[in-house]
Amino acid sequence: MKSISSKILQNARKPKGFVGRLMLKGMNIGHASLSNWALSLINWQPQWQVLDIGCGGGANIAEILKRSPRGEVYGIDFSAESVAYAQKTNKKTLGKRCFIEQGNVESLPYNNNKFDLVTAFETVYFWKDMSKALQEVRRVLKTNGLFLICCEVSNPANTKWSDLIEEMVIHSENELQTLLEQNGFSNISVYKQPTEKISIVAQAINSNTKKENKK
Ligand SMILES: C[S@@+](CC[C@H](N)C(=O)[O-])C[C@H]1O[C@@H](n2cnc3c(N)ncnc32)[C@H](O)[C@@H]1O
Repeated sequence: MKSISSKILQNARKPKGFVGRLMLKGMNIGHASLSNWALSLINWQPQWQVLDIGCGGGANIAEILKRSPRGEVYGIDFSAESVAYAQKTNKKTLGKRCFIEQGNVESLPYNNNKFDLVTAFETVYFWKDMSKALQEVRRVLKTNGLFLICCEVSNPANTKWSDLIEEMVIHSENELQTLLEQNGFSNISVYKQPTEKISIVAQAINSNTKKENKK
């Protein structure tokens, strides 16, 4: 039987209900220093079109909006609870230059070549089919567009969190690098902190036009 703490932690994968909202509030606060470090690795352009995948409570979207003050920021998450929370967090810009909707990384509802930057904070652990997901990220990125992955944990041998959270897969930096290379990314830079925290910035090589434009 699952412990209460384990039941609560399932909300990190897909927040739901009251506990999900508490988790989203906690992540908006608790992930701030990690995501600010990752965001500081990017040479921001004011007019960028940015997508944040697995946007959770939307705090990172708010930070991105500040860094691209004339741009547009899209957020997507497969949890309805996350989408509602992120929309609330960004209510002032919502519908103007911030757009947040429900969806899965494996089938992104955006045009080919739309974004200058795609971000993924604390979420790749839960992407079921990494190749499919990365091909979707590449499809929606402009050629030479950037993909930023940020993970607090990156040592698969350390199962402290993956033992507690169902379907959580911890990827090593080498594994992520290989997956990125296999799915259309190059110029991959890995940034590390003394702990297991890593950020990876990769560039989309060729735009992939095989899929129909969406919107
Ligand atoms: C640990 S939370 C991180 C939230 C936020 N990025 C942050 O750093 O605070 C992971 C989020 O990714 C979302 N997620 C997980 N798998 C996803 C998928 N396949 N497609 C879209 N969102 C996903 C979850 O619903 C959850 O909101």
